[in-house]
Amino acid sequence: MTEMMTAVRKIGREKGFVVERVPIPKVGSHDVLVQVEAASVCGTDLHLWKWDEWAAQRIKPPLTVGHEFAGTVVEVGESVEHAKVGDYVSAESHVTCGMCFQCRTGQAHMCPQTKILGIDRDGAFAEYISIPEKVVWQNDRSKLPPEIATLQEPFGNAVFSTLAHDLAGQSVAVLGCGPVGLFSISIAKASGASNVLATDINDYRLGLAKTLGAKTFNPRNNPTKMETWKWLVQANEGFGVDIVLEMSGAPLAIDDAFKAVRNGGRVTLFGIPSAPVKIDVAESMIFKNLTVLALNGRRIFDTWYRTRWLLESGVVDLRPLITHQMGLEDVNKAAGLLDGGEACKIILRPKPDGKKVSGSTSGTSDTDANVRGHLMHR
Ligand SMILES: NC(=O)c1ccc[n+]([C@@H]2O[C@H](COP(=O)([O-])OP(=O)(O)OC[C@H]3O[C@@H](n4cnc5c(N)ncnc54)[C@H](O)[C@@H]3O)[C@@H](O)[C@H]2O)c1
Ligand SMILES: [Zn+2]
Ligand SMILES: [Zn+2]
Repeated sequence: MTEMMTAVRKIGREKGFVVERVPIPKVGSHDVLVQVEAASVCGTDLHLWKWDEWAAQRIKPPLTVGHEFAGTVVEVGESVEHAKVGDYVSAESHVTCGMCFQCRTGQAHMCPQTKILGIDRDGAFAEYISIPEKVVWQNDRSKLPPEIATLQEPFGNAVFSTLAHDLAGQSVAVLGCGPVGLFSISIAKASGASNVLATDINDYRLGLAKTLGAKTFNPRNNPTKMETWKWLVQANEGFGVDIVLEMSGAPLAIDDAFKAVRNGGRVTLFGIPSAPVKIDVAESMIFKNLTVLALNGRRIFDTWYRTRWLLESGVVDLRPLITHQMGLEDVNKAAGLLDGGEACKIILRPKPDGKKVSGSTSGTSDTDANVRGHLMHR
C-alpha cells in the first residue's frame, strides 16, 4: 500500500493552497527523503498563493509548494554517498545542472538549467520532501533549532547581497523592510556599519527594522511630506549614503536609491520590480561614478558557509524576525498574514506522523509549536 502524507499543494488556477493527502515521494537513486520539521513561508510562495501573472506562466500544477525547510533524513537512495539516515539537514533550493559553463566555473547560482524546489519540482510544505543529495546542507542540531535552520535559505539571499560590500564604518540604507531587507539590516549592524537607515511604506515592518537598530522612515506616513532620498541624506548628517541596498523592487525606491547614494558610492539592486523600470543612466549612475551590483540568489555553497557561521556564532540573531509559528495545515492563514504585511517570517510545522522517523530527534509536538507560536506572536 502507498504510504501517504499531508502536503500543501497548488492544484488549480484559483487563489490559495489546498492541504491534501498525497503519496510520500519516491526516493531516486541519488536522492534523500527528508522528514520536514520546520518550513518557512517566502514571498515567492505568496506569488503562487495569489496565482499572479508570474505564477501562471511559471508553475505547472499540481505541485507541492515551499522551498525553505529543515528536517531529518529518513531514507537514502542506493547511490547516495554522504548523507545518512538521521542527518539533520536543510537544502539549497536551486537544483543546478552541474555541467553548464556557470556550474563548471564555480558560478552555479547562475545556472540556466536551474530547477527550484517548490516551483519546478515538489517542495517542502509537506511531511516529507525528496531532494537530490547534491543540494543537502548539513545542520548542527545543537547550534541551530529547526525554526532557525529553515531560515538559512532566505537569509543567504541577504548574506550574498549585503556582504557583497565592505560595510564596516560605512553608512548603509536599506530600502524595503520585507524579510530580505530586515535580514540585511541585521547583517549591516553586525558588520559594524556606521549608520543604518531603513525605509518602507509599512509601519509594522519599520517597527521590526527599529528593533534591529535602524533609523526608519515611511515615505507614505510622514507629516512633513519629505522626499525619501532627502530624509536619507539628512539622517546621514547631510551626506549621500555610502551603500544603498534596494530590497523592495518598488520603482519609487529604485529612484530613491540612485538619488540618496553619494557620488562614488555603491548600490545593490536585489528587489525584483514587477515591470520594466526607467532609469536615467547618465544622471543616476555615470555622472555619480557609481558601482551598481545587480544580484540574484546565493553563491552555492560559499554563501551557505558564511550564513551558517553568522547564525551559529550568534553574530546575527533572527529570532525577532520569526513573527508567527503555526501548523502546516494553517498555511492559508500564514499566506494571508504575509499578504497583509503584518508578518515577517512565518514558520510552519507539519504534525509528525511517526511513520518514518529514524528514532532520532525528529518532530516537535503540536503543543510545543503552539506554545512557541503564542510566545513569539508579535
Ligand atoms: N534577486 C534575488 O535573488 C531575490 C531573491 C529573493 C527575493 N528577491 C526580491 O527582493 C525583494 C525583497 O524580498 P522580500 O521577501 O523581503 O519581499 P517583500 O515583498 O516581503 O518586501 C518588500 C518590502 O518593500 C516595501 N516597499 C514597497 N514599496 C516601497 C517603497 N517605495 N519604499 C520602500 N519600501 C517599499 C514593502 O512594503 C515590503 O515590506 C522582493 O522584490 C523580492 O522579489 C530577490
Ligand atoms: Zn524563498
Ligand atoms: Zn548548470
